[in-house]
Amino acid sequence: MAFCYDSDWLTDGWPISCSLPLTETGDFVPPDMRGHHFFANLLPEGGARDRLVRWLGIADDDFLLLERLGADCAGALQILPEGEPPDATSEICHALENEHLLRTIGSGQSHWTGHDEPPRLSLAGAQDKLAVRAGRQENRWQFFLPAPGTASTHILKLPVPDLRHIPLFEAFTTFLARELDLPAAPVEPVLLNQETLSLSERFDRRTEGKRVVRLHQEDLCQAQGLSRADKYSRSPATFSTITDILREHSTRPARDIQTLAAWQIFNALAGNTDGHLKNLSLLATSGGGWALAPWYDLVSTLAIPRISHRMALPIGAAEDPQNLHRNHWEAFAHQLGVSPRLVQRLIRSQAERLQENADAWHDAFQDRHGEFPALQRVRTVIRRQTRKALRDWL
Ligand SMILES: Nc1ncnc2c1ncn2[C@@H]1O[C@H](COP(=O)(O)OP(=O)(O)O)[C@@H](O)[C@H]1O
Ligand SMILES: [Mg+2]
Repeated sequence: MAFCYDSDWLTDGWPISCSLPLTETGDFVPPDMRGHHFFANLLPEGGARDRLVRWLGIADDDFLLLERLGADCAGALQILPEGEPPDATSEICHALENEHLLRTIGSGQSHWTGHDEPPRLSLAGAQDKLAVRAGRQENRWQFFLPAPGTASTHILKLPVPDLRHIPLFEAFTTFLARELDLPAAPVEPVLLNQETLSLSERFDRRTEGKRVVRLHQEDLCQAQGLSRADKYSRSPATFSTITDILREHSTRPARDIQTLAAWQIFNALAGNTDGHLKNLSLLATSGGGWALAPWYDLVSTLAIPRISHRMALPIGAAEDPQNLHRNHWEAFAHQLGVSPRLVQRLIRSQAERLQENADAWHDAFQDRHGEFPALQRVRTVIRRQTRKALRDWL
């Protein structure tokens, strides 16, 4: 799979990725894999991908999958079959009935929605999910499936049978981040019979009048020209590399580097070990250039026994979030090129506020959404991590 910019685009377009600059030729042809990796990074991964491939009855091939699913992706690009022009004004949606959604859960067919044709949408990640439009009616959510070409505005994640608390834990972990005034995209739990789904508001979509406009974004695998297989980076150089990208491409590098530090500190405090390179993105700014996107996919995975408890990206050289010390955070500050005092200040502020308010925030979440006994597990993780942070990390 190769990628070449059109010659007109080279004269007045913008680079679709930090890794795909508008160089003289704008050709990214194998053995240069950057073009392939950028587009393959738009596709579902792991179990979600396996289930889709089986259901579509096609070969497990990046190009074929993009052709079938690429009409609505993360960011502004639409991948359409040859001869099908993009239609930025398309606003066609079909109601998605709850019974269809419920039947989907556990069937291994997240894309089965009661319609004959699978929706043509593609989002990365291994969780079963749908890109939808969502609206509230009389206190209940209503979901709509965009027709091919129409932009979605929300991401609806479905529980996987043996990891069914993930959507709930994501909604709660994100709620805590937002209570801490951290820049996480809003996520709501959605209750359907006995199941809890999660609904995220897309930050790469904006409503203009009656139309939904796509904003461009890319994840940190795409920004580095990496394959999705490299999203778990064990290299201690990872944070230096991300910081270099922010220095070169961000329109507000100092602020973004501080936000990057706050992200990893929150991951460690909340016990989110899955903060990998595809769970961090850059959003294209209207004037050109990029800025760190709002945070997403925040889940207290330490509260889930079956998920790896090693940090996806190491802190200093440390991978165990339950055994962190001041020297690891000093090495982390060094990797980011910021002062250890700044990192300490961010740790103290998050940890103290969590210690003081987590019980009240837990109550506030349940007042709003209902009682969820499973959240005790997340509370226990956060209580423990916060205590350790104030004792060992500073
Ligand atoms: N709120 C959001 N707004 C825009 N894009 C998002 C948002 N949340 C997730 N994404 C995009 O969708 C992809 C999959 O979402 P993610 O929450 O990471 O799912 P998973 O839990 O399966 O990894 C992300 O890699 C990102 O590109
Ligand atoms: Mg993810």
